[in-house]
Amino acid sequence: MSNAVISGEKVVNYINGEWTVPVKEKYAAIINPATGEAIGDILLSSKEDVDLAVEAAKKAQKKWALVPAPQRAELLYRVGLIMKERKEELARILTQEMGKVIEEARGEVQEGIDMAFYMAGEGRRLFGNTTPSELKDKFAMSIRVPVGIVGIITPWNFPIAIATWKSFPAIVGGNAVVWKPATETPLMARELVKIFEEAGLPKGVINLVCGSGSQVGNAIVEHPDIDVISFTGSNEVGRTIAETCGRLLKRVSLEMGGKNAVIVMDDADLTLAVEGILWSAFGTSGQRCTACSRVIVHESVKEQLEERLLVAMEKLTLGNGLDESVKVGPVINGSALQKIHEYVGIGKDEGAKLLAGGSIVKHEEYTNGYYYEPTLFTDVKPDMRIAQEEIFGPVVSIIPVKSFEEAIEVNNGVTYGLSSSIFTRDVNRVFAAQRDLDTGIVYVNAGTTGAEIHLPFGGTKGTGNGHRDSGVQALDVFTEWKSVYVDYSGKLQRAQIDVE
Ligand code: UN1
Repeated sequence: MSNAVISGEKVVNYINGEWTVPVKEKYAAIINPATGEAIGDILLSSKEDVDLAVEAAKKAQKKWALVPAPQRAELLYRVGLIMKERKEELARILTQEMGKVIEEARGEVQEGIDMAFYMAGEGRRLFGNTTPSELKDKFAMSIRVPVGIVGIITPWNFPIAIATWKSFPAIVGGNAVVWKPATETPLMARELVKIFEEAGLPKGVINLVCGSGSQVGNAIVEHPDIDVISFTGSNEVGRTIAETCGRLLKRVSLEMGGKNAVIVMDDADLTLAVEGILWSAFGTSGQRCTACSRVIVHESVKEQLEERLLVAMEKLTLGNGLDESVKVGPVINGSALQKIHEYVGIGKDEGAKLLAGGSIVKHEEYTNGYYYEPTLFTDVKPDMRIAQEEIFGPVVSIIPVKSFEEAIEVNNGVTYGLSSSIFTRDVNRVFAAQRDLDTGIVYVNAGTTGAEIHLPFGGTKGTGNGHRDSGVQALDVFTEWKSVYVDYSGKLQRAQIDVE
């Protein structure tokens, strides 16, 4: 695939090192959200295909686990180098498949490259602990071992970055993977699998099964031989997955929604705050888990902030993300567009004041694309639905507050807890805020997006279930702890008893 505009692509499964289709082939269209045009087809698989992928994974994993971790890591280095070489091409595919503007697509591919090199480094660490035994002539240590077969289910909003967050630590950890990408973005999945193939990953270590959540996703979650599930997506789906995994006593790592806020205090650098808000609210058309969808502002600077935001928002050109001058791309599809528009209606009905946007856009050139105006509400009350529920689009609600304490309370008064941010120049507030903001990620004098791959990524409350993607913490999802005791005393020594 070159830098050309994509059309007529076909994404099928990759099982046991072969691109395969089931006997009965069924496809759905892959749509470029910027144009509304079909650019290819994705295979819709069924449970039988998942079974085949698991069989292949099981066979491959036994051998893969015995490859020394530094050698497993070598493979990730090669993956990283290939990604780096193909960065521009991958970014262009990503923009055409998912819609985000090309500059952000490049950033997302870079996130994958970073993760490749970072996790490759882990191949020479994968640290466990040695610790003294309570008994003489006895050695004790804990080591990380592979979990086995990992099922990963990834979303469309970061189709390559999130896939690398999950597959790279899984693979360096000695597991084999069965992966279901979002049906909207299988091209990125195919490209990543091709890169693994080119890097020389043994067959069966990664298996791609394309299809719907109800067919393929469920089959992965339910499969008795898949040991751990790593999911990023909606709360609704995550909850069902967790219920099933609970019943099956299966480990599950969930990364779900957010209702992230930027707090702007009375002493904030307002120019900087406006930039931070714009970038985190309208970047990826608001379709990041970390997107800013609330601005909690001290009442004394509210009007100033609103004015500045309105001026800055006028410069947000909307269009096809392949055009370098475009700042905001489309949203993913027609139902997303409807959902966003419904929320705008709800906001108006609730009595919030619409300052800007609020409409579906019929783009002059791309009349079938899915565009929504960057939208700003003000005088929003913390308990309104638009201030509580995840909209996943370019809609921001300004909530005025009277004090720092109230700002923290409003920030924490939602069921989610992914990211938060505060703009202030008061060092005391900075430290109090990072302590009191109940989110997994806190930014000071920056927006709510921009997580780096070597730190844990995840949230509190309804955002997740206590696990983290990224960072060394991701290894806790994809490895099992084994405690090993070696007694070299030559006699029976009983712990807790023969301790004199
Ligand atoms: C997501 O939206 O699920 O911090 C991931 C960020 C990106 C990752 C977002 N690095 O916004």
